[in-house]
Amino acid sequence: MRTLAEPDGGLLMARDGGERMAMMRYRAGAFALLLLAVVSASAAPFAIPPESSIPEGPTGEAIRRGRALITDTRAQLPDNVGNALNCSTCHLNGGTVPYAAPYVGLTGVFPEYRARSARVISLQQRINACFMRSLNGQPLAFDSDDMNAILAYISWLSRGVPTGQAVEGRGFIPLETALEPDPERGRQVYAEQCVSCHGADGEGRTTAEGGYLYPPVWGDNSFNLGAGMARHYTAAAFIRHNMPLGQGGTLTAQQAVDVAYYVTHQPRPDFPARVRDWPKGDRPKDAR
Ligand code: HEC
Ligand code: HEC
Repeated sequence: MRTLAEPDGGLLMARDGGERMAMMRYRAGAFALLLLAVVSASAAPFAIPPESSIPEGPTGEAIRRGRALITDTRAQLPDNVGNALNCSTCHLNGGTVPYAAPYVGLTGVFPEYRARSARVISLQQRINACFMRSLNGQPLAFDSDDMNAILAYISWLSRGVPTGQAVEGRGFIPLETALEPDPERGRQVYAEQCVSCHGADGEGRTTAEGGYLYPPVWGDNSFNLGAGMARHYTAAAFIRHNMPLGQGGTLTAQQAVDVAYYVTHQPRPDFPARVRDWPKGDRPKDAR
C-alpha cells in the first residue's frame, strides 16, 4: 500500500504543483495585462526630451533659466528661499526622475483640484506652495520672468505628453498608511543609514564655499511643517524609493515609515497658515 501510495501521492503532488504553477502563471499574466490596461488608460509613458530639442532664442533661454532656478534655487533666488534647499533637492535631477515627484507632464494636468486647499489650482500656485512650504520662503509673482522661466522649463519637459494625462512615475509610490511608525526604530535606521550624509543633528553637510554637499533634513534650514515632506507617509514614500541616495528601494516599507516619522518630527520651522489646510475636513492622518 505504502509503496503504491507514495509514487501516486508524488505524482499527484507533481501534477497539483504543475497545475498550481500554471494557474499562478496564468493569474500573474492576467494581472500584468490588467495592470498594463489600467496604466495605459490613465498614464502616459515617462520620457525626457533630448537636450537638442531646446530651441534657440528667448524661449530656449527661458527653459535654461528655468532649469537653473530649479537646480540652484537658493543661490539664484535668495529673496524667495528661506532654507538651505533647492527645488531639485526633492524633485531629483531637476525633476526628471520617476517617483521623485518629476515635473514631466505637469503642464497638461494643471489646473487641478487639490484637497489641501479644496480648490482647483494652477501650476503657478502649486509652484508657489513649494516656495512657501518646502523652501520655507516667499512666492514668486505670477507674471515674473522667473515664474515664466520655471513654467517654460516644465512645459519643455511635458512635450508630447497628452493634455489631461499624467505620466507613469508622477509623484511618489504611496505606502500603506496602515503601517504604524516606531520612532525608536526610526532613530536606529537614521543612525545606521542616513547620518553619514545628513548629519547627527539633521543639519546636512556644507562645502567650503558655503553651499550644501548634503541637504539638511531638519532644523532651521529645512522644510517647514506645512510642507508635503513634513507628512510622514509622504516622506516615507520619497525615502523608500530614493534614499539612501543611490540605494533607493533597499529599506523596507516599515523602515521607511519609521525613519520618516523620526525625521519629520524633529524640530523644524512652523507654517502657521497650515491650520487652514484641508478646509473640507478630509485631513490625512499624517497632516501636521
Ligand atoms: C522638501 C522637499 C521639496 C522641495 C525642496 C520642493 N518640493 Fe515641490 N513637492 C514636494 C512634495 C513632497 C510634493 C508632493 C506633495 C504631495 O502632493 O504629496 C511636491 C509637489 C510639487 C509639484 C506638483 C507635482 C505634481 O505631480 O503634482 C510641483 C509643480 C512642485 N512641487 C514644484 C516645486 C518647485 C518649483 C520647487 C522649488 C521652488 C519645489 N517644488 C521644491 C517636495 C518638495
Ligand atoms: C550618500 C548620501 C546620502 C545618504 C546616505 C542619504 N541621503 Fe538623503 N539625500 C542626499 C542628497 C544628496 C539629497 C538631495 C538630492 C539632490 O540634491 O540631488 C537627499 C535628500 C533627502 C531628502 C529630501 C530633501 C531634504 O533635505 O529634506 C530627505 C527627506 C532625505 N534625503 C532623507 C534621507 C534618509 C531618511 C536617509 C536614510 C535612510 C538618507 N536620506 C540617506 C544624500 C543622502
